[in-house]
Amino acid sequence: MTPFRHLYGPGPTNPYDEATAALGEPLLGHLDPLFIERLDRTCDMLREVWGTENTRTLPLSATGSGGMEAALVNTVHPGDVAVIAVNGLFGLRMADMARRCGAEVITVEHEWGTPVDAQRLLDAHPAPQLYGMVHAETSTGVVSDVATLGAAKGDALLVVDAVTSIAGSELRADDWGIDVGYAGTQKCIGVAPGLAPFTISDRAFERRVTEPRSWYFDLGMLGGYVTAGPGARTYHHTAPVAMVASLEAGLRRVLDEGLPAVWARHEEAGRLLQNTLEERGYELFAAEGSRLAQLTSVRVPDGVDSAAVRRWLLTERSMEIGAGVGEFASTVWRIGLMGPNATAESALRVADAIDEAVAATR
Ligand SMILES: Cc1ncc(COP(=O)(O)O)c(C=O)c1O
Repeated sequence: MTPFRHLYGPGPTNPYDEATAALGEPLLGHLDPLFIERLDRTCDMLREVWGTENTRTLPLSATGSGGMEAALVNTVHPGDVAVIAVNGLFGLRMADMARRCGAEVITVEHEWGTPVDAQRLLDAHPAPQLYGMVHAETSTGVVSDVATLGAAKGDALLVVDAVTSIAGSELRADDWGIDVGYAGTQKCIGVAPGLAPFTISDRAFERRVTEPRSWYFDLGMLGGYVTAGPGARTYHHTAPVAMVASLEAGLRRVLDEGLPAVWARHEEAGRLLQNTLEERGYELFAAEGSRLAQLTSVRVPDGVDSAAVRRWLLTERSMEIGAGVGEFASTVWRIGLMGPNATAESALRVADAIDEAVAATR
């Protein structure tokens, strides 16, 4: 029997009960009219959490990285100039993927722990085909302003990673000028990993998507199954029907609470954790004013063995927190309070457990 873990790392988080229960429902065929109705309802709810009216809004059969790949492989053509913000691991990943799609990539490097500076992206090239940025950098715990770049992007497309922000922070794809967005289910939506909520505007689709080099992520072909009208659904691949059932249940849970209330709950839990840790003498890593509530990055105190603390939490408290990334692997911890874990109770539980773990491993 698998033990219960408190998943307070950078993701996956513990799912909502409703999302877990849906995994046990009888399986439907992927072309069953009941499943198609479920898929349609799910796409409608995804439009709400994205803040978009885009017809092409769907759960891709992939994790967040698959969403990133789909975004780029459909919109980047060899020789395009892509200006990509890098302020952590996922900006780096986006730049790598854009390069593999044949783009001439201009990376705009920021110090890790600081937010994206839209003006620096705008200054990087006079007329790129594409800008890319991460809304919520899970590797550092930083949130960046998307709307400024969206308002000034001109003719370029704006591709945004919302893996950690969706359903956890304010996200308004249409108002902010996001042309292509991808996300994940395993963070603030509170569902297991496995699907990538995805959205692309008509403008981006019509101007950029011709015949992408990826068959699996060809958005034109996927549209024939996911977004075609009644009776027009054609087989592309076997949809992960159980995951879609779980996503539908998770999204309903989120929307029943109401998006502003869910955002506020994440905000309150994250700030409580951050204030508690600071009061107890810990130093936060992300720049003040740009701290993500749902993912708190903390400097490991001097003399404390980062890995030993994480091991102790797992074995003694059945609790997972994340290590830092890259050069911060052993000097930063990352604590996620996402989905059902975005509560005051979880914030205090993890803060207390870290204190205990530090004392026990010194
Ligand atoms: C901001 C961000 N982008 C992309 C990804 C990649 O998603 P996945 O690991 O689901 O492929 C993650 C995963 O943690 C992420 O946090």
